[in-house]
Amino acid sequence: KILILDFGSQVTQLIARRVREAHVFCEVHPCDVSDDWVRAYAADGQLKGVILSGSHASVYEESTDKAPQAVFDLGVPVLGICYGMQTMAHQLGGKVEGGHTREFGFAEVRAHGHTKLLEGIQDHATAEGHGMLDVWMSHGDKVTELPPGFKLMASTPSCPIAGMADEARGFYGVQFHPEVTHTKQGQALLERFVLGVCATRPDWVMGDYIEEAVARIREQVGDEEVILGLSGGVDSSVAAALIHRAIGDQLICVFVDHGLLRLNEGDMVMDMFSGKLHAKVVRVDAAELFLGKLAGVSDPEAKRKIIGREFVEVFKAEAARLKAGADGALKGAQWLAQGTIYPDVIESGGAKSKKAVTIKSHHNVGGLPEQLGLKLLEPLRELFKDEVRELGVALGLPPEMVYRHPFPGPGLGVRILGEVKKEYADLLRRADAIFIEELRNFRDEASGKTWYQLTSQAFTVFLPVKSVGVMGDGRTYEYVVALRAVQTSDFMTADWAELPYALLKKVSGRIINEVRGINRVTYDVSSKPPATIEWE
Ligand code: XMP
Repeated sequence: KILILDFGSQVTQLIARRVREAHVFCEVHPCDVSDDWVRAYAADGQLKGVILSGSHASVYEESTDKAPQAVFDLGVPVLGICYGMQTMAHQLGGKVEGGHTREFGFAEVRAHGHTKLLEGIQDHATAEGHGMLDVWMSHGDKVTELPPGFKLMASTPSCPIAGMADEARGFYGVQFHPEVTHTKQGQALLERFVLGVCATRPDWVMGDYIEEAVARIREQVGDEEVILGLSGGVDSSVAAALIHRAIGDQLICVFVDHGLLRLNEGDMVMDMFSGKLHAKVVRVDAAELFLGKLAGVSDPEAKRKIIGREFVEVFKAEAARLKAGADGALKGAQWLAQGTIYPDVIESGGAKSKKAVTIKSHHNVGGLPEQLGLKLLEPLRELFKDEVRELGVALGLPPEMVYRHPFPGPGLGVRILGEVKKEYADLLRRADAIFIEELRNFRDEASGKTWYQLTSQAFTVFLPVKSVGVMGDGRTYEYVVALRAVQTSDFMTADWAELPYALLKKVSGRIINEVRGINRVTYDVSSKPPATIEWE
């Protein structure tokens, strides 16, 4: 295994992810573990290498964190990244100085000599045959004197020591960040370190992750009971399946149906978790409550606030009952589980402090576990979205569920423009189901993928305006819907998807014929920015 010591960089978990991608098991621990802890960690002989991460401290602040000195006495290779390289240089007798200029962004690094770490890894070569790497840098301080035993491994014009190596001990430092995708050869470099230098075997798979996570959850929870808010989304579903695998009936899922879910969504969630997985699920049907609170409200942010607030209230009331031992909670639940994933941890600034993070999707409020007097269980907090999906499939969840497009917490509440009414929600649900069904049916010949797979998010929006149409001999005067389908990698910017006309035609025909009450279908051809993905 590989030990990653975290100096608090926002991208530390990316290092872990890259190591997992190389099929090697790794664990992230804070950099301030003691020498004794490190020796005990390595005592079973399984530890094959250590990676020291970058630091969270902005380059203008000074960090005084050090690696436990024992790391350098274990006889295993060590790779220092950015701040990790600086502390390595400092602790082993080199010199680090504050830079006068901050270096941030792309840089071209030149490799020097032959090192096991960089040999053959390059983006291009100079006329003299030096390997060149396009890398991502972000630092202020820099190493200005190599520690004894080290040789120069890489340099840039502004950072003469951008990489160093003591090959006898297997110690390497790089000033740039191999863990981010901007460093094109980053994965190759990290793989070279863990597989080549540390000589680990690439035999770790997601199935192993399940075993490890199950063991961790069992150890954490013991014989106590856990409540989990199931939303039907990917993260809470995978968390539920994983925790259920670990502790079975000690897990009680609470599924709050706010009446703004997609067609049959509630039944599908119940069927999957209660029916197939045999998990305990309490379904709270709160549709009327939510519609009542939303009556007469048309401002999007006001609607969001109401939905969020009511969601928390309903969930809290249910959790309090379960804590008190209701509904098959035999002892009274003591834990609240959340499907927090690593990007949520970063977003909420909790990467270093491990502070409780805001609750996902439905209710963006922190502090719920404290308010409820429950301990927090977050088994996915180290994983990235695509890893969560892979884990979900490995746990036996259906791929259609795990690879679903994102769905906002307020649900159809923000896809019905203006005031939310049950009539509108029912029409929208049926129209949307047709659109999604046809996106799954239509395949792009060139790629062999369905249009559902080729779009990042697709849905239908209900417009509470009526337009005139004709049907048979009669004039109709009915509602309008808009279809929205976008392609994006980060949801910050998005392009409208160039869906085939045949698909649009089929969807439009079906909606107008099958959903009485809608007589016009439009397609949204606005990109983000300036439009947003949702209409509200
Ligand atoms: P926009 O509309 O801002 O959407 O371009 C970007 C992404 O965020 C989702 N979204 C939300 N998710 N609660 C959520 O949980 C919300 O209130 C909310 N509003 C937008 C949207 O679906 C898209 O994926």
